[in-house]
Amino acid sequence: YKRVTVKSLIDMKQSGEKISMLTAYDYTMAKIVDGAGIDVILVGDSASNVMAGHETTLPITLDQMIYHASSVIRAIDRSLVVVDLPFGTYQSDPKEALRSAIRIMKESGGHAVKLEGGKEIKESIKRILNAGIPVMGHLGLTPQSIYKFGTYTVRAKEEEEAKQLISNAKMLEKIGCFAVVLEKIPAELAKQVADELTIPVIGIGAGNGVDGQVLVLHDMIGMTHEFNPRFLRRYMNLYEDMTTAISQYVDDVKSVSFPNENEQY
Ligand code: KIV
Ligand code: NA
Repeated sequence: YKRVTVKSLIDMKQSGEKISMLTAYDYTMAKIVDGAGIDVILVGDSASNVMAGHETTLPITLDQMIYHASSVIRAIDRSLVVVDLPFGTYQSDPKEALRSAIRIMKESGGHAVKLEGGKEIKESIKRILNAGIPVMGHLGLTPQSIYKFGTYTVRAKEEEEAKQLISNAKMLEKIGCFAVVLEKIPAELAKQVADELTIPVIGIGAGNGVDGQVLVLHDMIGMTHEFNPRFLRRYMNLYEDMTTAISQYVDDVKSVSFPNENEQY
């Protein structure tokens, strides 16, 4: 295998090879995802929803993100591992942002961090980049700002917000981010941003005119089943398959058909 680096992602954009990215939050899942050939693993703060059952991404802590990220890191041979800086660990000032990013890098062994936002956090991103830590940006529907938006609907449909998004994306490239995630914005706008930037633009609900795609693993394998946005393609229905398997096990235990003669000592 050849390790994926921030440099290889930029090369992929230049050669027109699309970038594949999925989330993972634990060792066992990350091992499967890495082994299947994914380019980038995101230890997303969506762990707050998927792993901990919170309604939003806001409650997850830096210590919890480090726990998830270190578990993922122990599993991977090839993928680039990007770790979300959670809400409240980078917004108040650049020094705090750098301290948080350093903790992620030192304590988890992650390869890069991702932060949500544009101009508001420019100085924080610069500070992190200056320490040699690669930064991925995240614009559009940024879930840490859900209480500002009030809804999970598509962002940047109006011209003003679209212009802001384009200028923020350009700024992120200019200060040195290695890639940007665009979440839930019109496909046409996302394509325009991808065309105008030389760094890779990874979309989720942003159409196919971008340089790569990211999904939440548990959604794409159909382990979750209540979340059904249009952009989500489910490749399996693990919710159903697991329910069937587990009820079968329950039946087998009750009927004493498990364990059988060969399954005991
Ligand atoms: O936390 C996450 O899973 C993310 C992706 C949806 C981009 O940030
Ligand atoms: Na996230």
